[in-house]
Amino acid sequence: MNFKGKTALVTGAGKGIGRGIARALAEEGAVVAVCGRTLPSLNTVVGEIRTAGGQAFAINADVSAARDVESLVGGVLDRCGRLDILVNNAGVYLTAAVAEMSEEEWDVTIAVDLKGVFLCSRAAARQMIRQRTGRIINITSVAQLRGGTPGHAHYGAAKAGVGAFTKTLARELGPFGITVNCVAPGLIEDTEMGRMSKALMGDSYLATIPLGCLGTVQDVVAAVLFLASDQARYITGETLNVNGGSHMA
Ligand SMILES: NC(=O)c1ccc[n+]([C@@H]2O[C@H](COP(=O)([O-])OP(=O)(O)OC[C@H]3O[C@@H](n4cnc5c(N)ncnc54)[C@H](OP(=O)(O)O)[C@@H]3O)[C@@H](O)[C@H]2O)c1
Repeated sequence: MNFKGKTALVTGAGKGIGRGIARALAEEGAVVAVCGRTLPSLNTVVGEIRTAGGQAFAINADVSAARDVESLVGGVLDRCGRLDILVNNAGVYLTAAVAEMSEEEWDVTIAVDLKGVFLCSRAAARQMIRQRTGRIINITSVAQLRGGTPGHAHYGAAKAGVGAFTKTLARELGPFGITVNCVAPGLIEDTEMGRMSKALMGDSYLATIPLGCLGTVQDVVAAVLFLASDQARYITGETLNVNGGSHMA
């Protein structure tokens, strides 16, 4: 895949899945804006990309804060003059049964996992409409389709919300040549969130996966790169499941 001449913005790119996506897009020639709240991690990823011969820069932003997101996208445009690919990957995964859940736990999850996708998509869409081209890819979860596991009602609600949001945005932006899709991973074992989730689920979870193994960051990266590519030009409003068959829509 060739992303030469493209500018990509990946949120939550300081570690985990976002780091993998940022590195892969840069390897394929995109200039990548690496976004998150922890500057040292962002700088490490930028260093990894540059060492490998790619182009990247870090921007510190909280995706749940409108002002941060406006200066995030403004910063990308100041530097690159365009935005071709937005990957809404930033996410939090708190654990609390509904009966025990604080209002704050609910609010933080919805603010980052749902409102963050709205804020970043809104800012990106304004530029992509001007360009009449663009790709927005939202990283949801198997919870988008089957609801969160116990302790994750807020997370499931946010991810399902992103799924519905994606379809409306795809309808709104289609006339401008912009596609909007979701990638919905199952349990991805080689990230902090994945390890936390694995510890909560226990080994019996493996038996529910027809392919018999957990996913990796690379599995998600492959799906994102495809949806960002020209090969996916006629796909919009879709969810690509990357879950080993644990849930079939
Ligand atoms: N791993 C899995 O099993 C799995 C399964 C299904 C879906 N997913 C989804 O995949 C995405 C990435 O997950 P992951 O496993 O890579 O998680 P992770 O290792 O915990 O990384 C999450 C990233 O999001 C960033 N982030 C969190 N809150 C943010 C905020 N308010 N603003 C900006 N960045 C923020 C974090 O950086 P800072 O804290 O430094 O900001 C971090 O870089 C998430 O949307 C998650 O829901 C993961």
